[in-house]
Amino acid sequence: MIKKVGILFGMEDTFPWAFIDKVNELGNGKVIAEPVLIDKVQQGIDYGYHVIIDRISQEVPFYRAYLKNAALMGTAVINNPFWWSADEKFFNNCLSMQIGVPVPKTILLPSKERPDDTTHKSFRNLKDPLDWEYIFNYIGFPAYMKPHSGGGWKSVYKVESPEDLFEKHGETGQLVMMLQEEIVFDDYYRVYCLGQKYVHIMPYEPRNEFHLRYVTEPKTTGAEHQKLMKTIHDYTIKLNKALGYDFNTVEFAVRNGIPYAIDFCNPAPDADIHSVGEGNFNWIVEHAAKFAIEKANAHSEKQNNSSWGTFVKEAAAPSKPKAPKISLKSAAEIDKSKAKKVPVKAAAVKPAAKKKPAAKAKTKPAPKKAATARKTTAKAAPKKAAPAPKASPKKKK
Ligand SMILES: Nc1ncnc2c1ncn2[C@@H]1O[C@H](COP(=O)(O)OP(=O)(O)O)[C@@H](O)[C@H]1O
Ligand SMILES: [Mg+2]
Repeated sequence: MIKKVGILFGMEDTFPWAFIDKVNELGNGKVIAEPVLIDKVQQGIDYGYHVIIDRISQEVPFYRAYLKNAALMGTAVINNPFWWSADEKFFNNCLSMQIGVPVPKTILLPSKERPDDTTHKSFRNLKDPLDWEYIFNYIGFPAYMKPHSGGGWKSVYKVESPEDLFEKHGETGQLVMMLQEEIVFDDYYRVYCLGQKYVHIMPYEPRNEFHLRYVTEPKTTGAEHQKLMKTIHDYTIKLNKALGYDFNTVEFAVRNGIPYAIDFCNPAPDADIHSVGEGNFNWIVEHAAKFAIEKANAHSEKQNNSSWGTFVKEAAAPSKPKAPKISLKSAAEIDKSKAKKVPVKAAAVKPAAKKKPAAKAKTKPAPKKAATARKTTAKAAPKKAAPAPKASPKKKK
């Protein structure tokens, strides 16, 4: 039986076509690839793809729902649309701590504005003001503030002081932000990971212009470099196995030889030849095709063929309890007396009702995604993917 691989994509215009060609070349007529074509989406219908690579459903909720039905029908969807719907960066960091991968110290902040259709009564579980003194002493300044669910450098801010934070937080509307320790790095890497096993480590310089970010060299050599590469490789596998992603990039900022995972929620990572460069492009095309063919050949009828992370698998079928790699302290255990004092001016923190336009990228330009659309390309991807959460703590009886 011929196995069929589909790719669902948006405005990008180099990776999808190269991927299709590579699958058709390596598939020897037994595995074929084509753009996914949708003319209707009926519940419970199998539209016949053994594998679908999803590059766009983060921006098109219609596609996400289509993919969930496809996954239910047995399509191996890369990445698993159920997990992708559940995941966000704050949870990423929490899980990372549990599995022993270093991450910057991070605090979650409530959105500046209240989600639609909520009132001050919806926030009675939130103390006003928050414990800013603790938060600032824990994170320090300068710090990064960025959406807990986002990407493409949108609404990523560097903040210098409490006042600067409150001012910039004021621009972020209904976005839920994270305040994060700045990792002042000696070196930086972006790492492709496919199928939780194929790893490609790319030196990356985030301070360069967009088109030159991958044009940089590692800052270490010899045994030190080998050791760092092995650590980055192992951390990358560990994170993707735990989260269950089959196609992801992990970013690491290296400080004093320790790679800190900065951003590993990139399930449709940039794979454009014009930004990643020819060598990296060839790697991702070849390995994505190879992995899609493996998934197609491993496809079995009437079962769920999408990948799940160990976090979900162990929740569904617990293995022996493991001791956490690091001890997570409760707030009460933290000795405030050791903390350096940062003067804090009182600031309103409960989400305010006032509506402002959505925040714009501040410190860095948003990367150009790709050139013009072609063929089945989704032209009408609405901006602003994430709908506002409907936060409404249940009333006590
Ligand atoms: N904690 C941090 N320390 C140092 N640099 C950071 C930190 N967080 C983000 N950055 C910088 O900001 C960039 C964008 O942040 P990132 O978390 O990757 O968001 P996005 O998902 O939008 O790409 C990173 O590539 C990095 O250069
Ligand atoms: Mg990033």
